[in-house]
Amino acid sequence: MTTSLLSVQRLAYLAASLLFIFSLRGLSTQESARRGNAAGIIGMVLAVVVTTAALLSPSTSGRIATSGGEAWGMLAVAIAVGAALGAVLAARVAMTSMPELVAILHSFVGAAAVLVGIANYLEPGAQGDDAVHGVEIVVGCFIGAVTFTGSVVAFGKLRGSIGSKPLLLPGRHALNALMALACVVASVLFLQTTSPAGLPMLLGVTGIACVLGAHLVLAIGGGDMPVVVSMLNSYSGWAAAAAGFMLSNDLLIVTGALVGSSGAILSYIMCRAMNRSLWSVVFGGFGAAPAAAKGPVTPAGPVQEATADQVADLLASARSVIVVPGYGMAVAQAQHPVKDLTTLLEKRGTKVRYAIHPVAGRLPGHMNVLLAEADVSYELVKEMDDINDDFGDTDVVIVIGANDIVNPSALTDASSPIFGMPVLEVWKAARVVMMKRSMNAGYAGVDNPLAYKDNTVMLFGDAKATVGKLVSALQAKTAAA
Ligand code: TAP
Repeated sequence: MTTSLLSVQRLAYLAASLLFIFSLRGLSTQESARRGNAAGIIGMVLAVVVTTAALLSPSTSGRIATSGGEAWGMLAVAIAVGAALGAVLAARVAMTSMPELVAILHSFVGAAAVLVGIANYLEPGAQGDDAVHGVEIVVGCFIGAVTFTGSVVAFGKLRGSIGSKPLLLPGRHALNALMALACVVASVLFLQTTSPAGLPMLLGVTGIACVLGAHLVLAIGGGDMPVVVSMLNSYSGWAAAAAGFMLSNDLLIVTGALVGSSGAILSYIMCRAMNRSLWSVVFGGFGAAPAAAKGPVTPAGPVQEATADQVADLLASARSVIVVPGYGMAVAQAQHPVKDLTTLLEKRGTKVRYAIHPVAGRLPGHMNVLLAEADVSYELVKEMDDINDDFGDTDVVIVIGANDIVNPSALTDASSPIFGMPVLEVWKAARVVMMKRSMNAGYAGVDNPLAYKDNTVMLFGDAKATVGKLVSALQAKTAAA
């Protein structure tokens, strides 16, 4: 590659790296998320264009075996097929199926890292005998293989093609340790050979790592997959960084490190918000403890049931209302009627806000995305830590299809599986309206004492239909006033 082309490439890579950092920064708040996304897209387009140009440069030797029109053709077909597939999948995917799309995309990164590693090792003239390069190759293949099979299993569990029950083999931790040890031994042997004699060792490490990745994720219950997917996101970043070292591509190293570290931080935040240990996600068996049945729980006492009209009366006389959306709101797709309800309340002069728990729903940011889709103003949407102190001064809290995230036993019952998980302290409000279809438990499978409190009323029914009834009842009261 000529010196000037190399300088342009380095500058473009630096610009793309900065754009990725701006993108991550932007994605941290709702207001700047669109800008962040745009920065990421521009960075990626720049990276693809510059890398393609560099690969096709006549002075680049060894990377593209063919030249001229044929090389352009091959790359153009690969990019066009990849881009078309990605665009169709992203356009079609439902919000609730997002984790499975992300999981399968991670598996591609893992597979790519393995293929790059093996190809790099076999490449004529590659520095196969250089110990550092050898380490890059074997580490890249190991992380790539764990990411690949782990992500494929996560995808299968999320789709329901693989049973969601955790596979708990006897002595599974010892088995994992044995596989890890076998990989270390094979890697040491690999590093002591010269190319291509070490290929069987490299394939051995890759094969064992494939089994290890699948086994780690098979040991985790299907419902806990979103946290595992976030962890695999981190692994895919490290796999990409490893591929970057193998190819001496600075941008891939920077991008991989950004994905790897941000995925690890997100996993840590999710684990903390769910009161789970990060180590159990890394080493498997996370969420393996059998959860209580998710169906009906034995009610601990009588509940006060209200009609939509009675709740509309409560809302009509409230000066301040906080809406707490949960997984049930997402399932019912009730965000639009919920927005209508809060718009109506605001028109009546009621102070309205939304309270979001970090793990409300089943995806990071699940509620924020749904509320943004319904055009709810960002200013009204408050994170748990910013609003928890305000419940005491609130007239009515409406909990819509949420359960675990408002369960007081998380703070008081040391025997509860969710003990220690921070929750929205809604029971401190003057009145609480819990909207759900039945007395069934939520994700953690435990009863919720909130339902039996004196200041709580239950409004049973599908969230979308019930919120619709509330809107009609409140409209009628507003018109009659
Ligand atoms: P959940 O505790 O799962 O409760 C949701 C409630 O919604 C259920 O009790 C259900 O009761 C009700 N519901 C379901 N469909 C409904 C519908 N159509 N209309 C009205 N209600 C409906 O949800 P949450 O409070 O949002 O808590 C989230 C849970 O998921 C936490 O335990 C969290 O740890 C876990 N989790 C979260 C994530 C992320 S990253 N967000 C990832 C993995 C796990 P009925 O059946 O009686 O209606």
